[in-house]
Amino acid sequence: MEDKSKIRLTNGVYMPLVGLGTSHSGGYSHRAVVYALKDVGYRLIDTAKRYGTESFIPQAIDESCVPREDIFVSTKLWPTDYGFESTKTAFKGSLNRLGVDYIDLFLIHWPEVSSKCSDKWGTLVETWRSIETLYDSGLCRAIGVSNYGIEEFEKLLPESSITPHINQIEFHPFHNPNDLKQYCDDNKIQIQGYSPLGEGYLVNEQIIKEMAYNHKRTAAQVLIRWSIQNSVPTIPKSTKENRVKENFNVFDFQLNDNEMSLLNGLHEGRKYIDSSKIKDKIDEQLPDGYKLDIHLNEMTNSSQNNRQQS
Ligand SMILES: NC(=O)c1ccc[n+]([C@@H]2O[C@H](COP(=O)([O-])OP(=O)(O)OC[C@H]3O[C@@H](n4cnc5c(N)ncnc54)[C@H](OP(=O)(O)O)[C@@H]3O)[C@@H](O)[C@H]2O)c1
Repeated sequence: MEDKSKIRLTNGVYMPLVGLGTSHSGGYSHRAVVYALKDVGYRLIDTAKRYGTESFIPQAIDESCVPREDIFVSTKLWPTDYGFESTKTAFKGSLNRLGVDYIDLFLIHWPEVSSKCSDKWGTLVETWRSIETLYDSGLCRAIGVSNYGIEEFEKLLPESSITPHINQIEFHPFHNPNDLKQYCDDNKIQIQGYSPLGEGYLVNEQIIKEMAYNHKRTAAQVLIRWSIQNSVPTIPKSTKENRVKENFNVFDFQLNDNEMSLLNGLHEGRKYIDSSKIKDKIDEQLPDGYKLDIHLNEMTNSSQNNRQQS
């Protein structure tokens, strides 16, 4: 029987429709990740070298007691590692930090390179070729890109022997790029959505709140349900256990055709992830997990404070 909580990629690999994001922004909660796997039933973890959270995942998987092979582990390559050999080295680094011997999904994080690089497209193609060899040798179950638009695909596809299985992009009712979606559908590239809650801001949108009220659901659930009803898997993030559970409980209700077309008509190109700042981050060589470090320091300080007080 078909598992309605998963989607089949073109290479036959099944990917969960709802996964857990673990980006540095907003911090990492170990408890929330363990809870997601052990108690709620999440089977996809999205991370990236950039987030600085890869090395926390093995302990969470271990504590969850869920077998590794039941978990779809997805990570990404940051632009400072682009290039044929450096991609392989960075991939090994991710494998080691994640404590696994294969990655379920490995993505090129951004179609952007450092200003010092004189051949952007050559570098991106070379990087993709390197990822193809990782796939061919069985080290990744699926491979893809992130934040690619039609222009980037038009440069990449003629040069590639494997069409990316995934394009991970910002995807919510206010950023629902039909032309890109159609292009990906035509080329059998599965879109996976990130920031389905618009980093949390979209739960305050009136139209979403009204639909949630009518379904006796929450605004977050309406947003996530909308994505999966559009056949776009999604990876909401929360550091709070109650929200981790809430965000996964989306398989037992349905938005009707009228609601779907209302939400599908809201696209206005609104993005919460500012792509114009990515180049600066590459050039400035900001360390991986640069926002997370601050949060971890706060956590360390607060546990030190607690110890001093007690
Ligand atoms: N490929 C890329 O370039 C890229 C870019 C951005 C993100 N991503 C991936 O996508 C994941 C998700 O995106 P995101 O973290 O940017 O945004 P998001 O999932 O849309 O929103 C996360 C924010 O919403 C809050 N939140 C979560 N559940 C909620 C609920 N039920 N009700 C109200 N607020 C809620 C969270 O706060 P609390 O923690 O306080 O609950 C957090 O501040 C990331 O973690 C990352 O894995 C990928």
